[in-house]
Amino acid sequence: VSDMLVDSFGRLHTYLRISLTERCNLRCQYCMPADGVELTPNAQLLTNAEILRLANLFVSSGVNKIRLTGGEPTVRKDIEDICMGLSKLKGLETLTMTTNGITLARKLPRLKECGLTSVNISLDTLVPAKFEFMTRRKGHEKVMNSINAAVNLGYNPVKVNCVVMRGFNDDEICDFVDLTREKPINVRFIEFMPFDGNVWNVKKLVPYSEMMDRVVRYFFFFFLLQDHPTDTAKNFAIDGHQGRVSFITSMTEHFCAGCNRLRILADGNFKVCLFGPSEVSLRDPLRHGAEDDELREIIAAAVKRKKASHAGMFDLAKTANRPMIHIGG
Ligand code: GTP
Ligand code: 5AD
Ligand code: SF4
Repeated sequence: VSDMLVDSFGRLHTYLRISLTERCNLRCQYCMPADGVELTPNAQLLTNAEILRLANLFVSSGVNKIRLTGGEPTVRKDIEDICMGLSKLKGLETLTMTTNGITLARKLPRLKECGLTSVNISLDTLVPAKFEFMTRRKGHEKVMNSINAAVNLGYNPVKVNCVVMRGFNDDEICDFVDLTREKPINVRFIEFMPFDGNVWNVKKLVPYSEMMDRVVRYFFFFFLLQDHPTDTAKNFAIDGHQGRVSFITSMTEHFCAGCNRLRILADGNFKVCLFGPSEVSLRDPLRHGAEDDELREIIAAAVKRKKASHAGMFDLAKTANRPMIHIGG
C-alpha cells in the first residue's frame, strides 16, 4: 500500500466504494428524503472511462476491493462495461456491489460474467405491504427472487442488509434469522443511521444489544466468529444453519478504528468518511488534464485529513452531510 492510502492514524485504505449514480428505482425512507434529492446533471457525473482512470490509480496504490453503490448501481446503463473494465485491474481481488435487488435476478448472470465476485442485497422486511411502505414502491417479490438467483448462481455467502427500525421491522428479526437456515445467506442487521433528510430519531434506533437479546431467546447455539479488524460487521454462526447472522453497529459500537474504506461519489467527489462532510472533487482536476501524480497528491492530502472516528450519533444527527442516496453507504 502506498503512502497515499495511509492516514494520520496509520490506517491503510484498501477498500474503495464507488457510487455510480444518484438515481434509484426505490424511494426508501431512510435513504431518500421525502421530497426527493437534487440530481447532479448527467454531464457532471463520472463517465465509465473516468471511473476506470481513478480506480486504476487507487488499485495501483494498494486498493484490492471495490464496491459499486449508488443510488442503485444497476440503473447505470453501462454497468456491465464498468464491471468488465474494473474487474481487469491488476491487483483487484474483490469487485462487489450493494444493490436493492429490484432488477438483479435478470442482470446478475451477465454481471457475474463481467467479473462481479459477490453481491450485497438490501431487504428490510419480509412483508410485501411493509416493503411498499418503506420503499414507496412495489417490488418485494423481485428482491426475494434476486436473493434466490444470487444463491443459485453460486454466490456464497449472499449478504442481505436489513436496516432495523423500531416499530417497523424489529418484530421480524427472528424471521430474518430463519432465512439463514437452509441457504448460504448472511443476514446483516444494521443500526439505523442519521443522514440528511431521513428523519432519524434515536427512538427508532434499535441498539445491537437489544437485537441480540431478541435473537438469543430463539436461537440458543449462537457463536461469535473471529472478525477481521476491518469488518463493518460482527459475525455469528448458528448451529444447524448454513448461513450467518451479523450486526453492523455503526451507532452503538462504531468500528472506525479499523476503517479501511474510502468513497468516490457519482459526481466525482472524494469522501474519506461516511460521516465526514468534507469532500474534494477528483472530477474537476481530471477534466482539467491533471496528471496521475497531481491526482495522487489531492487524494493523499484528503486521506491525511481523515478523523479518528465519527462524532457519535447525537452529533451526527445535527451535522450536515449528504442524503444517503448520494453516498451509497
Ligand atoms: P462487506 O464488504 O460485504 O463487508 O460490506 P460492507 O458492510 O462494507 O458494505 P455494505 O454496502 O453492504 O454496507 C452495509 C452497511 O454498512 C451500510 O449501512 C453501510 O452504510 C455501512 N457501512 C459501510 N461502510 C461503512 C463505514 O465506513 N462506516 C460506517 N459507519 N458504516 C459503514
Ligand atoms: N442507516 C443504516 N443503513 C442504511 N442504508 C441506507 N440508509 C441507511 C441508514 N440510514 C443501507 C442500505 C444499503 C447500504 C448501502 O446502506 O440498506 O444496504
Ligand atoms: Fe435506493 Fe438503496 Fe437508497 Fe433505498 S437504500 S433509496 S434502495 S439506494
